[in-house]
Amino acid sequence: MYTMDELREFCYRCRKCRLSQTRTNVVFGEGNENADLMFVGEGPGYYEDVQGRPFVGRAGQLLDKMIEAIDLKRSDVYIANIVKCRPPENRNPMEDECSACLDYLRWQVKLIDPKIIVCLGAVAAKNLINPDIKISKERGIFVKKGNFYFIPTFHPSYLLRNEGAKKDAWKDLLKVKEKLKSFV
Ligand code: URA
Ligand code: SF4
Repeated sequence: MYTMDELREFCYRCRKCRLSQTRTNVVFGEGNENADLMFVGEGPGYYEDVQGRPFVGRAGQLLDKMIEAIDLKRSDVYIANIVKCRPPENRNPMEDECSACLDYLRWQVKLIDPKIIVCLGAVAAKNLINPDIKISKERGIFVKKGNFYFIPTFHPSYLLRNEGAKKDAWKDLLKVKEKLKSFV
């Protein structure tokens, strides 16, 4: 078993996939290492790559609001991504990049041992729940795998472009809030 600090050091030195060639900083993830709730996005964007922190751009501001909507603060939860290095021009991470990086996230999940993992958007949902998942149809439904409940919802970047979908995303977040209560 690794510690979170050891894992972070591995990631900072990682060259397992081509994204290492174009990154500025590795975006390991951050937050409460004892969190009951984890959010997983897709991969770093421009600002995340520059700052080395997840969800600090426009999508991040919306994610902060999503977290506040369930009466939590950013420091209560843990935030990570499927890939830890920025895909050039913010393209979707490729399958081989995701599989190269996923072990790190699996270790993070083991160390944090959350109750619920919210998959933000299709890339996270496909990699963590089911490769054939359709977010539009299956969002808001809990899937139990091992000790963890996964729930897919819209990515905040999608919500920025599709205001109308916020209503549904907020419904999903309420489900998360209710489910969290059942663990206390
Ligand atoms: N989008 C993501 O999927 N992750 C981030 O960290 C920022 C934007
Ligand atoms: Fe390593 Fe992940 Fe970065 Fe690829 S994206 S170089 S696997 S840390």
